[in-house]
Amino acid sequence: EKAGFDHFMLKEIHEQPKAYRDTMLGRIADDGKSVNLTELSMTAEYVKSIRKVHIVACGTAYHAGMVGKTVIESLARIPVETDVASEYRYRSPIITPDTLVIVVSQSGETADTLAALREAKRNGARVLAITNVVGSSVAREADDVLVTWAGPEIAVASTKAYTSQLIAFYLFGLHLAGILGTKDEATVAGIITALGELPEQVEIILENAPVLKQVAESISHHKNLFFIGRGVDYAVAQEGSLKLKEISYIHSEAYAAGELKHGTLALIEEGIPVIALITQEELYEKTLSNIKEVKARGAHVLGIINAGNEVEVAKSVDELFAIPKTLPLLSPALSVIPLQLISYYASLALEHDVDKPRNLAKSVTVE
Ligand code: M6R
Repeated sequence: EKAGFDHFMLKEIHEQPKAYRDTMLGRIADDGKSVNLTELSMTAEYVKSIRKVHIVACGTAYHAGMVGKTVIESLARIPVETDVASEYRYRSPIITPDTLVIVVSQSGETADTLAALREAKRNGARVLAITNVVGSSVAREADDVLVTWAGPEIAVASTKAYTSQLIAFYLFGLHLAGILGTKDEATVAGIITALGELPEQVEIILENAPVLKQVAESISHHKNLFFIGRGVDYAVAQEGSLKLKEISYIHSEAYAAGELKHGTLALIEEGIPVIALITQEELYEKTLSNIKEVKARGAHVLGIINAGNEVEVAKSVDELFAIPKTLPLLSPALSVIPLQLISYYASLALEHDVDKPRNLAKSVTVE
């Protein structure tokens, strides 16, 4: 059942190219110029009436929602707030009938996410569910469902569900842009082409994975480490940090790279590992200067960078791992893969139960 892999997590990491393809299947027009989410019942008129979007989810799905915020804001120019489901209801969110609430849940059974969905509906908002389980509670109660076709995810640590949630957000963002006219045809077609290239690019990353094993083994000797990045790299940093904590039990924190000097830099000491994501070309110089700040204080830096930037970045980091070049908005669908693998190998090195980490359940059905 693990198809020759040692663990479900590793199998599911390797299933990501297929999960991307399956999630895109039938949702892109034959000419490659538009996205058609025919399963949605929301009309064009309704889409034009949306004034704001709330994305609500827990854990890894919340991290997908953080990327979703950037995707929807940049493609559709609608303001988006992303909340952790267990906090959402208690902050008395301003939910109006022109708010679209998007709940994201792999299982579709997470109690807090379901409660947020119900709260949204009570306030007259329309709810779109992004879920991996067709007949789940969340899917049944939402007005619209966008299924991620990742297939069953068994490992407690979410991998292919997260990345297929990202694909769902890209598709939905393009769907909105198509209706709202917020992006010209050539830009939309360019994003669709780049989406189509992702599965093969993931395969390239998976082929290069063995080098990450050594990185993970050296990390496994540490008690603390940091993930840093800007923009969507920061969202991915948070997902990388959660994954590492969840299965290797090593403490780590994710910081927006520019925030370091507002406090965290005090924690940087000789030898501490820092994993820096540097995939956003327009923020490149700024992140690089943050890397220099931690290096100057003795940090050991692994840079997750775009292929083509190796020579330039090599001077500023101790180690680097290059991901194939894609559009800045799509990079999370690639940059998270090495982080998934690092946490997998770190857990393995520490001889933990990779698929069933202590204290955790796959589906959290209590609030
Ligand atoms: O089934 P859900 O997507 O609603 O689950 C949400 C979280 O419990 C889940 O993503 C959790 O954070 C993962 N175990 C992280 O890998």
